[in-house]
Amino acid sequence: MNAKLKIGILGGGGILAAHAPGFMRLRDLCEVVVAETDASRHHEIRRLLGDEVAIVSDYNEILADADVDAVDIILPHYLHAPAAIAAANAGKHILTEKVMARNLQECDQMIEACGRSGVSLTVCHDRRYDSEWQALKDVVDSGELGDILFWKLEHNQNVVFPEGSWVRSKEKLGGGAIMSCLTHQIDSLRWYEGEVDHVTCMTRTEPGRMEGESIGAILAKMRSGALALLSINWYTQSHHAPNGLWYEFNHVTGTKGEAYFMSGKGTYVKIHDGSSKHYYDTEGKGSFVKVDVKKDLTGHQRCIEQWVKSLRGEQAEILTNGTDSRRTVEVAEAAYRAEETKAVVSLPLQPAR
Ligand SMILES: NC(=O)c1ccc[n+]([C@@H]2O[C@H](COP(=O)([O-])OP(=O)(O)OC[C@H]3O[C@@H](n4cnc5c(N)ncnc54)[C@H](O)[C@@H]3O)[C@@H](O)[C@H]2O)c1
Repeated sequence: MNAKLKIGILGGGGILAAHAPGFMRLRDLCEVVVAETDASRHHEIRRLLGDEVAIVSDYNEILADADVDAVDIILPHYLHAPAAIAAANAGKHILTEKVMARNLQECDQMIEACGRSGVSLTVCHDRRYDSEWQALKDVVDSGELGDILFWKLEHNQNVVFPEGSWVRSKEKLGGGAIMSCLTHQIDSLRWYEGEVDHVTCMTRTEPGRMEGESIGAILAKMRSGALALLSINWYTQSHHAPNGLWYEFNHVTGTKGEAYFMSGKGTYVKIHDGSSKHYYDTEGKGSFVKVDVKKDLTGHQRCIEQWVKSLRGEQAEILTNGTDSRRTVEVAEAAYRAEETKAVVSLPLQPAR
């Protein structure tokens, strides 16, 4: 394929800073146009994508352009499904930011619309495309940790949005911190360990900050038999403080060893009897060994690179199609049902009546 792809980016808010470098490094292969209703964002969009980038305010203008091959949806969550369905109906392939949509019903409508139009649906769960997160998967997949017993995944941030922001609205966000960002951890857990069998959940809401929960914890039993504890804390300043803690943390314990990824620190492995074929403790001190990870691209950049390859009909590693990413929303929805009913909820979920 020689012709340049034309890609519409729908939305030009905060996360464009992560997507724009992904497209800029591929500018010989694709041209982008942006739809952004807020004119005060246009200067920043030009800074990120070049002065010549075309910007419109109504995304329907992009969908009506027969030369546009595909769209990258980086809109607020309540607009993911309507924009994706309109894009599918217009015959455009779709990449959408996480979370795929606010609930399973919306995910199913998106999958159905894409199936009907014969277009692809990919979700930008960037952690699966990040080399540090991949390194932890490689450790687990090597089998050297033995049988996996326990996962602990954490997301820590200080999230304070101004009055009127869509993030403060439970309806527009699709819940609270769990649906918004613990879905990074849920999605990675599913990628690392397979599907979730049942969950229970507790949350804490601070109405002065947002309608949905700011803090949540999910306890999950995996189909593999492993246990997983996932938590999100949107009320901590820790990872910004000198001598504070971390932003994200993934720790896995197996019968023969353990490993973790900690943001800002890297990926580490300890094989208890020191017999590793790959992760050798050169000092013989029984310590954790740092995995040598080549960090060339960010998760967003690699996701966009693979998506563009797939659009060009080239061999691509798409790790997050719509059907798979739907199951991540399903776990978050199951957790909310568990919290509401103070019960353990099994998957797959039966549709709400
Ligand atoms: N992967 C990550 O780590 C990560 C981090 C932050 C955000 N995100 C995701 O990115 C998406 C967007 O989040 P954000 O932080 O950029 O939000 P944001 O509020 O900063 O940006 C959304 C933008 O969409 C624009 N917009 C709203 N309605 C529009 C319409 N009809 N047409 C065109 N533009 C419209 C808004 O003006 C705004 O500029 C969400 O899905 C969010 O979860 C992902």
